[in-house]
Amino acid sequence: MAKYKVCKTSDLAEGQGNKYEVNGQDIAVYHVDGKFWATADFCPHRGGSLGYGRLDGKTVICPSHGWQFDITTGECLNNVSGEVNTFEVSVEGDEVYVELP
Ligand code: FES
Repeated sequence: MAKYKVCKTSDLAEGQGNKYEVNGQDIAVYHVDGKFWATADFCPHRGGSLGYGRLDGKTVICPSHGWQFDITTGECLNNVSGEVNTFEVSVEGDEVYVELP
């Protein structure tokens, strides 16, 4: 595992997510309830960008066809097989870091 800087805390308002490329991987980072969370940016249905999805609390809704994922566990909430990887996130000062394999 290695730790990579993704963005600044001020880059994501509360309730927002975004897509970032980190060490060649597309990562979705979210700011919810004062904390930062990260998942793979790739929806397992057909590859939609979860970083551009709408957030409903700790649920991200894929912008392509609406599959929903718990951003804290990666679990798909649509009663279908499919989940996304989640990554450890830490904040140091005003910078957000993710740990990637
Ligand atoms: S690509 Fe995400 S729901 Fe279809």
